[in-house]
Amino acid sequence: MDRVVRVGISLEPELLQRFDEIIRSEGYTNRSEAIRDMIREKISQKFLEDPEAPAVGTITVIYDHHKGVVTDRMLHVQHHHLDVVGVSSHLHLDEDLCMEAILVKGKVKEVIALYNEIKSLRGILKTDLSLSSLSIKT
Ligand code: NI
Repeated sequence: MDRVVRVGISLEPELLQRFDEIIRSEGYTNRSEAIRDMIREKISQKFLEDPEAPAVGTITVIYDHHKGVVTDRMLHVQHHHLDVVGVSSHLHLDEDLCMEAILVKGKVKEVIALYNEIKSLRGILKTDLSLSSLSIKT
């Protein structure tokens, strides 16, 4: 770990107890690491408010490949965003349903544009976007 600065904070005992319970249930063995992660998350959220900020993420899509031409549309959209689409993985869930996970990298506004385009395709049942800021290096 690089140089660190110690900070002291004041908390109500009940709040601290609840916090400790939560971070213990999540596997943290010390408060500092949990608080560092929370601070990184907050900073990441802030950076993601900037449409020009660089980001990486995953777009997850679930669709019924029997419904219309949704599979073709999914491919079509991705071919139009080659600069944002990194890798795409396809999982056949059952006889009808498919899941696709698309790893993306680009400006926040570019990733969201792709996500919105996919989300609005006819035949898509569920979409999720997980976006992370590259600010986490700090
Ligand atoms: Ni499939």
